[in-house]
Amino acid sequence: MIFRQLFDDATWTYTYLIGDPVSKEAILIDPVNTHIDDYLALLDEYGLKLKFSLETHVHADHITASGLLRQKLGAQTAVSSLCGAETADIQITDGQVFELGESEQIKVIATPGHTPGSISFLWRDRVMTGDSLFIGGCGRTDFQGGSASDLYDAITQRLFTLPDDTLVYPGHDYQGRWVSNIIQEKTTNPRLAGKSKEEFIEIMNNLNLPKPKLIDEAVPANRYCGLEEEERQDAIEQRDQGQSKPKISTPDLVNAAKQLVTEVDVNKAKQLINNGEVLVIDVREESEYEGGHIDGALFLPRGVLEFKIGTIPELADKSKPVLLYCRSGNRSLLASKTLQDMGYTSVLSMAGGYEAWSKAS
Ligand SMILES: [Fe+2]
Repeated sequence: MIFRQLFDDATWTYTYLIGDPVSKEAILIDPVNTHIDDYLALLDEYGLKLKFSLETHVHADHITASGLLRQKLGAQTAVSSLCGAETADIQITDGQVFELGESEQIKVIATPGHTPGSISFLWRDRVMTGDSLFIGGCGRTDFQGGSASDLYDAITQRLFTLPDDTLVYPGHDYQGRWVSNIIQEKTTNPRLAGKSKEEFIEIMNNLNLPKPKLIDEAVPANRYCGLEEEERQDAIEQRDQGQSKPKISTPDLVNAAKQLVTEVDVNKAKQLINNGEVLVIDVREESEYEGGHIDGALFLPRGVLEFKIGTIPELADKSKPVLLYCRSGNRSLLASKTLQDMGYTSVLSMAGGYEAWSKAS
């Protein structure tokens, strides 16, 4: 087996390389964009072919290299389906297994709490915990849709139920430590050892941490696998025209969302808006919104929806009926599905989007 723990000292981030020496297939977990050349050199050194680039979650402190690794090496990018990173090739679900060659299996364990889409990867005797569990700590839960209650359950019910000697490899460490194990965290982690759920929540609610420096740049970029702005626009346009690149599975997601979201046509939408029965949300990008939008529509781009929604007071009440629209009706289906997953109970998506609306006006 080949296992390497790599470190980005600008953001204190750990990246993991796992390689199968027989098949020569490899994965990277949480690669950082500024280290792309290091990864290429390392893969070359071992003669490995990168099969997957996996994320433990959408990061707020660094930009992922996964989009670049896909471009350069054809590696498939994979993020939890709950992260809203719809340009990723694979939308990961709990229990999913990634295989390298005939014998190596990397299993997904859903560990929500730091973000709703946070996951850990179990491989052989070790678990890569991302920001769900750190050595003597854990990821914060005060932004990106975090939940201290969910994190407590994830750590105590999913991670602490692994064998005691399972090695814990975290997504960050700020004190130069690199590995721990389950029993050590169970017995010495100051946030968790002997702590009830209520005590843990109390601790998490009083951390008073500053906002990460890169969050406004990193989170939107990571929703697009770290791709540059122009490349993102391409990916969006291809997706809306149903011409995604072969490895992008967004049309499947759109079709899946279609089964779960209620759509209304422009006429019905007009009627609801005129009667003041819905709150209208434009989920397109800023340039599209500025080019014209429905009067009174709230601006909440799909790419940052989960992260910005908490800042919009009108959306605090999850039972309030909302109507979402985009350019042609696909992105708003995905955004509607996300809102439903977040607990919004009365969500409508406008079929045909702003194009249909403009034609009908
Ligand atoms: Fe994080």
